[in-house]
Amino acid sequence: MHFQLENLTRKFGTNTAVDRVTLDIPSGQMVGIIGRSGAGKSTLLRMINRLVDPSEGSIRFGEMEVSTLTGAPLRRWHRDCAMIFQQFNLVPRLDVLTNVLLGRLNHRSTALSVLGLFTREERLMAIAALERLGIEQAALQPAGTLSGGQQQRVAIARALMQAPNMVLADEPIASLDPLNAKIVMDALREINEREGITVITNLHTLDTARNYCERIIGMAKGQVVFDGTPNELDADAVRRIYGSEHGGIDEAMTSTSISLPDAASGSTKTSAGQIRWATGTA
Ligand SMILES: Nc1ncnc2c1ncn2[C@@H]1O[C@H](COP(=O)(O)OP(=O)(O)O)[C@@H](O)[C@H]1O
Ligand SMILES: [Mg+2]
Repeated sequence: MHFQLENLTRKFGTNTAVDRVTLDIPSGQMVGIIGRSGAGKSTLLRMINRLVDPSEGSIRFGEMEVSTLTGAPLRRWHRDCAMIFQQFNLVPRLDVLTNVLLGRLNHRSTALSVLGLFTREERLMAIAALERLGIEQAALQPAGTLSGGQQQRVAIARALMQAPNMVLADEPIASLDPLNAKIVMDALREINEREGITVITNLHTLDTARNYCERIIGMAKGQVVFDGTPNELDADAVRRIYGSEHGGIDEAMTSTSISLPDAASGSTKTSAGQIRWATGTA
């Protein structure tokens, strides 16, 4: 089912955070959105998830107009379109298993939810999700005691419990070290490949987008300035996205680059090589 944005715009006062974005995303794609800080990446994802209302434009999923949903259909949309955040958004004092079960809330009656009652099936499903992400041993620990990488894996398990059509991730690895960044990106890739779930993820480093995403969307000042494959993302496109000043390029390449020896499985290019390429030609 196609997912389409048309002239999607969000203004905050006189500031246009997202400016007439038109995109057509086929189901099952793994899409990376890159751009400088303030380019409008988070606002775009938040509009898709309806955490922020568009000022203008439309969001369509198949035949459904998402931008005007209210009530039960809007709750269904929140369920179908799971969101993962940079800061994980778990409930720290609740155990991991309960945090994952909270992903089921949109599937159940309010009465059962308020009582915190989950069925045996739901508990088994939650444990299976944790096993899939390799953190089942932490199931009974308070979520707040886990490392950042583990917490993000719990957040992905919680998202899976929603049985979503789409996973939206807003800089999911920005606060993780390289090893955990790789584990989390591998997990997103796996749910995309194995279940055909569309993944749209904002990424703060270019090399991660190149390594993991079949399609890269570059944003600058609220607009889409690049939309193509990693191969099509040449030096010129990088300049359009990040600006021509050296500072812009440098900022884009720093921090959590995934440069472990086996990170680029299926690819002959290493992250380090790509960083050299990007700075060398900019
Ligand atoms: N809730 C808000 N109120 C006012 N301005 C906002 C709000 N959210 C985002 N903005 C502004 O919108 C622009 C885009 O921000 P954002 O979507 O967070 O960009 P990015 O995620 O690419 O860093 C920025 O100028 C930011 O200051
Ligand atoms: Mg952001």
